[in-house]
Amino acid sequence: MVCLGNICRSPLAEGILKEKAAKAGLQWTIESAGTNGYHDGDAPHHLSQKVAKLNGIDICSQRSRKITPEDFNTFDKIYAMSSDVIDEMKWIARKKYDASKVELLMNELKPGKNLDVPDPWYGPEPGYHAVYKMIDEACDAIVNKYRNLSAEALAKADTKNLRGFT
Ligand code: 4NP
Repeated sequence: MVCLGNICRSPLAEGILKEKAAKAGLQWTIESAGTNGYHDGDAPHHLSQKVAKLNGIDICSQRSRKITPEDFNTFDKIYAMSSDVIDEMKWIARKKYDASKVELLMNELKPGKNLDVPDPWYGPEPGYHAVYKMIDEACDAIVNKYRNLSAEALAKADTKNLRGFT
């Protein structure tokens, strides 16, 4: 799961998808990262932590990191919170960038609409609640999409170990 700062949106996405995958008995490796590196080593924004906690998810131990080109080898699927994040990932990953692994998160919920998860960083608390709801619904769609695929189908889809940002 990737956003710009890896302190507001993608930590929520990491926490939410981890929770849903665990509940579904799926052994996915799920991480998050940012494209700007401004908050490397920082905990998630206090309002992301608060909204997650209100929904029963603890994200306080996450720490921000910048996405690396190597992440394109490590992970099978990489979800971007917004289209500007995709642009930044292309610059960072360069030759390692793999468009087949990248998707806008909201396209899992509303395919082809190319909707962004809006950045709540500049606004007050309600923005964080709205973002939580969007990410929560998109993560439900991800789990429903991949949970029933057989191992064979997963292998064919190159998502045997669905990982990552996802
Ligand atoms: P995020 O929000 O991408 O959802 O983590 C942001 C947080 C910090 C900054 C930008 C976006 N920043 O430029 O510091």
